[in-house]
Amino acid sequence: MRLDKAVSQVTDLSRADVKRAARQERITVNGVAVTDPSVKVSDADEVCLDGEVLGAAGPRYFMLNKPLGYVCATKDGEHPIVLDLLDEPNLQKLHIAGRLDIDTTGLVLITDDGQWSHRIASPRHQCAKTYYAHLAEPIADDAVEKFEKGVWLNHEKTRTKPARLEILYRNEVRITITEGRYHQVKRMFAALGNKVLELHRESIGEIQLDELLSEGDYRPLTPEEIASIG
Ligand code: URA
Repeated sequence: MRLDKAVSQVTDLSRADVKRAARQERITVNGVAVTDPSVKVSDADEVCLDGEVLGAAGPRYFMLNKPLGYVCATKDGEHPIVLDLLDEPNLQKLHIAGRLDIDTTGLVLITDDGQWSHRIASPRHQCAKTYYAHLAEPIADDAVEKFEKGVWLNHEKTRTKPARLEILYRNEVRITITEGRYHQVKRMFAALGNKVLELHRESIGEIQLDELLSEGDYRPLTPEEIASIG
């Protein structure tokens, strides 16, 4: 990656600011001042600004355990936003890969890699998302079959793609879907005449919510987790 891009990703500096800082010999790569902002750097290089070592250059990936009451948006006048929970530089460069409703808890993936998050969100990639749901009414006997076939949601022109339903208890289920339609899980249960009281995302593709993360906590993804979104 180019030096100016790498530095601007992990600092509050714009690319133009980085170019100026490089000209002023404030940036070093492996101990040597570099004035050319187009020089290529990798994670293996130690990049310093004003003598401070900068975090690894390159895209960032995090998982967060979303608490109730937080919104998956970049701004909200009324409620706290998920990005407020991150203590990271350049928050404005990060986005959420697969939003959750304000009253849904659990796994949220956050990145600045648009191609990676596209693979999670795009219907073409059929990335599975698994949720635990607590329902108001006992689950109907034919629910597994109906979800397998796909259900009609209000105001939609096509059935949902096949979804897997595992019955955990009378009114507790685990559901896996491969799409991300608006309020999809809640609307799927509404289509059966039921209502979701609690919804918690457990996994996205092969990435499981880390049990060690308390609500509101986050951690970087491992290289294996990042690579699993293919
Ligand atoms: N489906 C919903 O209805 N809500 C969510 O937050 C996620 C999936």
